[in-house]
Amino acid sequence: MKNKILQVGVIGAGRIGKIHARSLAFLIPEAQVAAIADVDAGAAREAAEALRIPKALSDYREILADRQIQAVVICAPTPLHSALIEEAAAAGKHIFCEKPVDFDLARIDAALAAVKKAGVKLQIGFNRRFDANFARVRRAVAEGEIGQPQLLHIVSRDPGPPPLSYVKSSGGIFMDMTIHDFDMARFLIGAEVEEVYTQAAVTVDPAIGQAGDLDTAVVLLKFANGVIGTIDNCRQAVYGYDQRVEVLGKKGAAASQNNYPNSVVFSGGEAIRRDLPLNFFLERYAESFVTEMKLFVEAVRQDKPTPVGGLDGRHPVVMARAARKSYDEHRPVRLAEVDG
Ligand SMILES: NC(=O)c1ccc[n+]([C@@H]2O[C@H](COP(=O)([O-])OP(=O)(O)OC[C@H]3O[C@@H](n4cnc5c(N)ncnc54)[C@H](O)[C@@H]3O)[C@@H](O)[C@H]2O)c1
Repeated sequence: MKNKILQVGVIGAGRIGKIHARSLAFLIPEAQVAAIADVDAGAAREAAEALRIPKALSDYREILADRQIQAVVICAPTPLHSALIEEAAAAGKHIFCEKPVDFDLARIDAALAAVKKAGVKLQIGFNRRFDANFARVRRAVAEGEIGQPQLLHIVSRDPGPPPLSYVKSSGGIFMDMTIHDFDMARFLIGAEVEEVYTQAAVTVDPAIGQAGDLDTAVVLLKFANGVIGTIDNCRQAVYGYDQRVEVLGKKGAAASQNNYPNSVVFSGGEAIRRDLPLNFFLERYAESFVTEMKLFVEAVRQDKPTPVGGLDGRHPVVMARAARKSYDEHRPVRLAEVDG
């Protein structure tokens, strides 16, 4: 495998499927996209034409049956992930799967057991770990640059809410949006969260509330190593995508700011201003999507562990369930209460 080009099949040609297919097709010479499948045959065909992928399929099972394909990238909607992981593992394919693995812990466990049984690799799409800013903050914590960590703050606000149809199938704000921040919290501090306490509301769009979801939340985190953290989420920030973190430690703090399309400052008689931050995840995290895929290809080709494994996919789902329970029951919830 070491010297061979990895043949990959992409399942799902939507927003994120096209991003991963583009990285594999044009930016990672060690891999090739042999086929892309989508139930929407037009979407598969368009992606295949744009990205020079030889096969556009409407049934992902053709990818699983193709003996030339060694790995799959699962970018179908979340409710399909765990079943696709099980099928892909049974077919002997290495697997990259988008977040979240599933909303249901029993289904996640079944999927992870199938991966273990098949002896294939699994990587979950928590791309933010590979963002240059967040990776540097992690390094400051891991290498003791800021001393023993004490406080963590994550600000994660979207420029605007997704369509209502997406909200309805997303699993809710904690499963869909905060899930990235739950992963970031574990990653930055390098310890597990034991307890969460949520305050949340609908402040952006009443229709989101009518769909049973929330659009604004603060989740307080208590880590096993004593660190206290906050996650601040809103589905709308009028100035754009707001993605910042800060860790305070005994020897100092490490904080990252937003990324901007340029560094120009306009100075006038009444105010000094600049352009808005990069608008949403496709722009803000573009590099991290490429890096995570490069590392997946490398893990498979060089038979190394993937950088974000199955349990890294499972923990944030436990945290999301606890955060929702805390909101519903107006009290702090220990993770152990929702796991097992
Ligand atoms: N890591 C990230 O930052 C990030 C960003 C966006 C989406 N995601 C995740 O990626 C997944 C897809 O999200 P999206 O925004 O690309 O959605 P999307 O709706 O744009 O794309 C999903 C695609 O899957 C196709 N599909 C549905 N059933 C299928 C099947 N059985 N076989 C093959 N294709 C099928 C749909 O036709 C659609 O084209 C979700 O789980 C989401 O949580 C992750």
